Amino acid sequence: MFRKYIRFIRGVAVNRVGMVGVVLTTSSFITSIILEIARLVGILTNARVGLITYLLFPALFVVGLALISVGWHLCREKTGKNTRELLEERFDAEQLKGGFFGSKLALTVGFFTLVNILFLSAASSRMLYFMDEPRFCGTACHSVMNPEWVTYQQSSHARVKCIDCHVGEGIGALIDSKLNGMWQIISITFDLLERPIPTPVHQLRPARETCEKCHWPNKFYGSRLQTIVRYGKDHESTPRYTTLNLKVDAGKGMEKGGIHWHTGEENLVRYSSVDDEREEMIWVEVIQPDGSFKRYTNKKLISSHNGHENKRILDCVDCHNRATHIFEDSHDAVDERIRLGLLDRSLSYLKREALAAVTAGYPDAEAAMEGIANHMHGFYRRRFPDVAIEKSAQIDKAVSVLQATYNRNIHHQLNLTWGTYPSHIGHKGDKGCFRCHNTDLVNENGASISGDCTLCHSILAFESDEAFEYLLPVDSTNRDFRMHQYLQQEFLEFLAD
Ligand code: HEC
Ligand code: HEC
Ligand code: HEC
Ligand code: HEC
Ligand code: HEC
Repeated sequence: MFRKYIRFIRGVAVNRVGMVGVVLTTSSFITSIILEIARLVGILTNARVGLITYLLFPALFVVGLALISVGWHLCREKTGKNTRELLEERFDAEQLKGGFFGSKLALTVGFFTLVNILFLSAASSRMLYFMDEPRFCGTACHSVMNPEWVTYQQSSHARVKCIDCHVGEGIGALIDSKLNGMWQIISITFDLLERPIPTPVHQLRPARETCEKCHWPNKFYGSRLQTIVRYGKDHESTPRYTTLNLKVDAGKGMEKGGIHWHTGEENLVRYSSVDDEREEMIWVEVIQPDGSFKRYTNKKLISSHNGHENKRILDCVDCHNRATHIFEDSHDAVDERIRLGLLDRSLSYLKREALAAVTAGYPDAEAAMEGIANHMHGFYRRRFPDVAIEKSAQIDKAVSVLQATYNRNIHHQLNLTWGTYPSHIGHKGDKGCFRCHNTDLVNENGASISGDCTLCHSILAFESDEAFEYLLPVDSTNRDFRMHQYLQQEFLEFLAD
């Protein structure tokens, strides 16, 4: 049996070219199978091995097959014989008996063709499946996707595949993404990639086809109570509390709702921005089911913008642009780790020094690791020698926590530093919600989109000593009596609604 196939293969390889073809086909077939077995057993786990198993070797396999037929063709040209004559020359009569199609040779050819088809379809379906795996997207292209991969693994979506947000469903989306992926491989190979990778991602599918496969817009969210703790730069790193009750829910149809009103099933908000970053609006429109239409135009921009426009229907990603790749703000990052007890607040001036250590400019990650350690140890040794000795374990822990914080957020090879990818949730300066909720955008009556402090959240504490300060009783001599009373009332009315 085995010898028969050897004989067949020898018969097929008519010349050098054919020989190379046979060797290539056979060896890439066998290597592919061995690599796949190694992967299944768990010996090989690297994402790039998949590229080799499912792409490189199957490609060599096809090249080998092509060489075999090129070999036949060359041989025919050279000897002037036709296929029939060549077959008779290369194989014994017994193999060819019964006419070509009924012969043993035909059976062997048929068998090999079947094996080829099975092998190639298995390899390509494995390839498609494998390329959809987050591990591939996140690690196959060297370090380019590392920042997104790191933040993704620590987010609520760590079990959601990259393609579920970046590609969506349907054959059109698939082809789109493979073409785009091809371009990415080219741009990485020739180092044409922009660093940092530009955001927003303009070819991201509409949220209807991605986010809304799992989160539906009219899901009831109610409101969400959130306490933000900020630590001071004083000796004790004193905590201050801001508590908001975020009015997340969409409401129903035409009724007044909360934050998710924008993407409620029946509402449509469109906007046009001057810049690709979608930060400076030219106009914002609202269309509602009763046919009502409103347009707010930027009174400062109208005459000066240069005609470049980016129109877009607002969706989830306009607010949740950091749904999964959450790069922290430097203050938030330090505050959060103190809150979680990872950084020990009993260390003198902890907040101030930790922040200084992670935000000093470093040329690369290695220098940063050293710089952070030197900064922290140096500070306590110089200023608080007793603390440096007594609490050396806490200082060591702080150093390693701050180093990890740095590595999560800062990626030198991509020019990614603090604040490169800001979040649109909230309103730092005139960003986030205030891109639209501001007084420059006005309708024909001169009215703007509300920026009322209690439109989006009740405020229950604002940089206070108490997490729920405005819910406590207040006496009328207090300087903030009016505001306190107003905010308390507003929240109670919201609850009663
Ligand atoms: C929950 C949905 C979701 C998942 C899962 C997801 N992404 Fe993203 N990704 C986004 C959004 C949203 C943006 C920002 C788009 C914007 O601002 O327009 C983004 C942006 C990016 C960017 C551009 C740079 C940036 O940070 O803005 C890269 C690169 C990226 N993602 C890679 C990945 C990789 C690799 C994976 C899988 C390991 C992945 N993403 C998984 C939603 C997702
Ligand atoms: C494949 C399903 C899936 C897709 C697609 C998906 N999500 Fe999620 N999302 C989840 C799950 C599951 C959770 C809850 C995780 C948990 O509670 O631990 C979640 C949580 C969230 C949260 C709360 C996060 C937090 O940290 O509390 C937000 C916001 C969110 N998703 C937005 C989005 C946006 C925006 C998109 C589209 C870019 C999206 N999701 C796409 C499944 C998905
Ligand atoms: C106008 C801005 C905006 C839009 C548009 C928006 N969200 Fe949100 N969403 C918020 C804010 C603000 C919160 C409050 C929680 C927070 O601060 O993270 C929130 C909360 C959430 C949560 C968490 C709720 C909880 O209780 O933990 C999920 C999940 C979510 N959004 C998904 C979506 C999805 C899916 C879409 C698109 C259909 C969407 N959001 C559209 C602003 C928005
Ligand atoms: C692209 C522009 C745009 C952005 C960005 C935006 N909004 Fe809005 N928002 C609007 C418009 C337009 C309205 C409706 C104004 C009107 O009805 O006249 C609105 C209305 C609202 C309302 C009132 C809903 C109701 O039922 O009346 C809330 C609450 C709200 N937005 C919260 C937010 C929050 C929170 C953010 C940031 C996370 C945000 N918005 C970001 C355009 C925007
Ligand atoms: C269009 C909606 C909207 C309006 C109007 C609005 N806010 Fe906010 N605000 C938000 C959202 C969303 C967050 C972010 C919550 C989060 O971090 O998840 C936020 C966060 C905050 C924070 C916490 C900031 C931090 O990180 O420490 C404060 C304080 C605050 N708002 C005060 C105000 C005040 C004061 C006003 C009135 C001038 C106001 N807000 C108007 C939506 C709004």
